[in-house]
Amino acid sequence: MGRFVSKHIEADYEALSEEAALFVYKRITAALNNSKPFVLGVATGSTPIGLYQYLVHLLADRRIDLSKFYTVNLDEYYPMKQTDSHSYYQYMKFHFWEPLQKANPTFEYEVQGFIPSGETDNPEAECLVYEERIKQRGGIDLQILGIGVNGHIGFNEPGSSPSSRTRVVTLSPETVSANSRFYKDDISQMPKKAITMGLGTILEAGEILLLASGKSKESIMRKLVALDKPDQSLPASYLLQHPRVTYILDIDASGT
Ligand code: F6R
Repeated sequence: MGRFVSKHIEADYEALSEEAALFVYKRITAALNNSKPFVLGVATGSTPIGLYQYLVHLLADRRIDLSKFYTVNLDEYYPMKQTDSHSYYQYMKFHFWEPLQKANPTFEYEVQGFIPSGETDNPEAECLVYEERIKQRGGIDLQILGIGVNGHIGFNEPGSSPSSRTRVVTLSPETVSANSRFYKDDISQMPKKAITMGLGTILEAGEILLLASGKSKESIMRKLVALDKPDQSLPASYLLQHPRVTYILDIDASGT
């Protein structure tokens, strides 16, 4: 298969979210209609919230049997209690899993939604178990990604190896600062570590959809699209090694 890269520029966040949801919906239903399972790699953060809203709406049709639909998250803070409102577990429950289950009860998030545990005493073992879970499900069919202002994907910060697997990482100062907005800008309250899928794990997904929205992403997106080979200081640039990547940006992020 040849390399397929597609870049869509949408007018604004709303249009980006709608386009992205339709993209994901088509992939999910194409598999499920052929009685194949579908594993969707999901991201948290501000960017995919609109996508999830639209996607729930599209999947609300109860004739769609979601019993073979699975989600696997990119990352979770460490340490982090599942019940903590800042956890990515709660984010997923609130923005996607519960609304989807309510709209279409053939999806049961407690069985079909996977996210690394931020409460384990043995994070290294958790990382291995997580990789194994993905493998047991047959791998990720489509991975949704946001991008950090420093070019991270998942929590693979600059310097991450392209062959890295799910592991415990220390968040970069840029990431701690960017995400402290969820902690009323109090950096001292922000977790400094996370469990993240590795770049190697992400690059094994069958297809990748990267979303970027807003002026804060303009500078990193300009750098990313200007590269013709991966650069370790910009982790998202390893997507250049993947055969099937789609970017959906809004005008602000694209700088056009
Ligand atoms: C989230 C994740 C991160 C975010 C990135 C962008 O699970 O893995 O890589 O996608 O930090 O975050 P937002 O969308 O909040 O700008």
